[in-house]
Order: sequence, then structure tokens, then C-alpha cells
Amino acid sequence: MSFFEWVCPLLWLQLFLARSMFADSLLSSNQPSEIPKYFLNLAKNSEVFDLMVGVRRTLHENPELGFEEFETSKLIRAKLDELGISYKHPVAFTGVVGFIGTGKPPFVALRADMDALPIQEMVEWEHKSKVPGKMHACGHDAHVAMLLGAAKILQDHQKELKGTIVLVFQPGEEGYAGAKKMIEAGALENVEAIFGLHVRSDLPVGQVSSRAGPLLAGVGWFQAIINGKGGHAAIPHQSVDPILAASYVIVSLQHIVSREADPLDSQVVTVANFQGGGAFNVIPDSVAIGGTFRAFLKGSLMKLKQRIIEVITTQAAVQRCTATVDFLDNEKPISPPTINNEDLHAHFVEVATDMLGPHGVKEMAPLMGSEDFAYYQELIPGYFFFVGLKNETRGQSSPEHNPKFVVNEDALPFGAALHASLAVRYLLEKETEKPGQGGSHDEL
Ligand SMILES: *[C@@H]1O[C@H](CO)[C@@H](O)[C@H](O)[C@H]1NC(C)=O
Repeated sequence: MSFFEWVCPLLWLQLFLARSMFADSLLSSNQPSEIPKYFLNLAKNSEVFDLMVGVRRTLHENPELGFEEFETSKLIRAKLDELGISYKHPVAFTGVVGFIGTGKPPFVALRADMDALPIQEMVEWEHKSKVPGKMHACGHDAHVAMLLGAAKILQDHQKELKGTIVLVFQPGEEGYAGAKKMIEAGALENVEAIFGLHVRSDLPVGQVSSRAGPLLAGVGWFQAIINGKGGHAAIPHQSVDPILAASYVIVSLQHIVSREADPLDSQVVTVANFQGGGAFNVIPDSVAIGGTFRAFLKGSLMKLKQRIIEVITTQAAVQRCTATVDFLDNEKPISPPTINNEDLHAHFVEVATDMLGPHGVKEMAPLMGSEDFAYYQELIPGYFFFVGLKNETRGQSSPEHNPKFVVNEDALPFGAALHASLAVRYLLEKETEKPGQGGSHDEL
């Protein structure tokens, strides 16, 4: 037996004991800047990491679309039960809202979305989706896992929390306005700030990115039926061709942004769906098209909506067709732009820099993608940020919403630790801001 074999375990034991004692008082000590790194280490430890990987893989195998997240919701509740965390259910059908801490103000919320996409997975691996045509291709499986990882870390420190952390597990983010339904069901009751995150395949693992102010665009959806008169492809003059009319419609729609929108006010119109005809030699009766429109300003969104209906109906009329346009106001209402609160941005940069160093925290340009997290931000200060997934030595991942999208599980601890740190530090700051506390001013 060498010296080291005897002494090293003792040293490690001492370090471990010192660390546990330090851990117990860490949150209430006057070193809040150490919390993010401490939480990251906890999140990388097998107890939290294995919980997250297990949840993420189970969800990945069993993806459920918006407002059908019954098994996902059940798994979340089972994990909260195991952790001894109380929760409300059902909130907006499948949603779950958990509570950790004092049960008293201040309340700060952390949000994860739960739904998958109607995409057939094309990645061959052990935990490939078992549901044909459905896949977690947007990383919401990882988002749920990260929030449960954060829940474990926070619950282990619940006695030291200076308020209440609200865990918002939300259904139907992918165009179902699940956030709106969660708000209507009372998920934000008493909550004064909310944080949410998204994984990002083109950002390196260990890095995060976001910005103050406008981050993601608002989005609306449309579907149109263009009706003509079907007939034989060889006798076009006896038909009214809806394929040609729909083609003109699509080309004209692309002129709205290029000719009518202020070039400095970013906007997008995309037709992503075109269904019509079943044979090479039959002119169909009708064609269906569908797409989205996006902008950062509400006024611009409304103007796009108005012009889309005008362009579709009048351009169809030029080709002797009629058209009906549906903006799916009930199933997919217009989602507002995601606008990050300035103070919460400063909070995020501080906390994330303490965890990842200044090079780990990137300022990003706004994106035309959208997030129904925006609904929360319409009501209370909210902050949305991205967590990197990319690791080229593990291979290139395809982007989100792609059948070959892969979540790099190395990113899970970063999401969990950021969630937990942002909330704990928020509560600590509120505590020190409180008049008559943490100082002797009221004695004077
Ligand atoms: C990237 O992947 C390699 C190979 O699996 C691994 O050794 C490395 O730690 C990863 N890097 C990060 C930052 O996770």
C-alpha cells in the first residue's frame, strides 16, 4: 500500500465534509456569486444528471403533441412526488405547477414546455421516438428534464430559499398558445418574474445567449382554400385552374414584405404548405395553402394579417377563383413578440457570467422565430434565453424542427443550474432590497 492510497481517501473525506457544511449554509452566506458554479457542480453530479437523462430519454421515446401531454404530465408529477414537491394539476389540461420554498412572496417562476412535434424521427439510436410521426425535435424533452433537475437542486436547499419558486410545466408551445391557457388557469398568480430557456443547436455547449428587449418575433398563422373548377388537364378552358391561382397568390404574398413593409421593421411571410391535385392529368377543384407571418411590432403583425387576406382573395379573383382565408384564431391565435425585460437581462448576465465566465455569455441578434413565452412577458417581467448544445467532437446536429435533430445531454446541467441560480439569486436580491431588512437603517 502506498502513502497515497491511504492518505488520499482521508483528504477527500475531509474535503467532502467541509464542502457539505459549506453547502448547507451557502445560500444564506454572503457569497451569492458562488451559487451558480456550485449549482452547476450539483447538476453535473450523478444524482441530478441521471435524473435528467432518464426523464429526457423517457420523454424522447414517448413524444406527445400539444395538449395531449398526458404521459409527460404524469411523469413530471411522479418525479415531483419523489422529490416531495407540492404542485397543482391539472392546470390547462396537462400542465403542472410546482412550488418550492416558503410558500410566501416573493414568487419567481421557471417555465418548461412539454410538447413534441408532428415529425418522423430519422435518428437511429437506442431511445428513438416510439411513436410514428411524432418526435421531440425542438428539445422540449430536454427543457422538462432541465427544470426537474433544477427542482431537485432547489428542493435540496428549500429551507434556505427567501421566497417561493414556481415551476411552470406548460403544454402546447408549438403553435397552441399553451402559455395563454396556463395564464388563464392562474399559473402566474402572485408571480412577479419568470424565466424560460430554449436549447440551441448552433451554440456551443457551455455557452448561453440572449439579449435585452426584442428577442423573438410575434407570429400568426393562416390557411386558405382556393376554389376553382376541376377538369381534364387537356381541356383547361373548361376548368378554372386553382393551381395556377394559388401560384399567383403565393408569388403575390411574397411581395407584401418586399414592397410594403419598412425594410428596417423585420417581417416574414412564408407559405409552407401547398396541397392540391392528385394526378398528372386532372385539374383539381381546389388547392389549400398555409403558412405563417412574423413581425416584432404588433401593428406590423396586424397589417400583415389584413394584407394576407386581401392579397389571397383578390389575386384568386384575378384567376377567376374564389378563396377563403382562416387565421385559426382559436387554435393558433397570434402570439406576441418575445421582449426581454432590461433588469432581468442584467440579472441573467450577472448570474450566467458567475457560472460560465464572460466568454460563456453571448449577446445575440434577434431571431424571427417565436415563442409563446411572450404571453407571460405581456403580463409580468420575463426573460428568455438560449442554452448551447453544439459539440463538434460529438458530431454535427441538425437544427431544431428537423427529423435529425439531436439533443446533446451534456447541456442538461447548464440548463438546470441556470434555472436554479436565476431563481435563487432573484429571491436573494429581493430580500436585500426589502426595506427594514438586512441592515440596521430602521434602527436609526
Ligand atoms: C465534447 O465531446 C467530447 C467527446 O465526447 C467530450 O470529451 C468533451 O468533454 C465535450 N465537450 C464539452 C464542452 O462538453
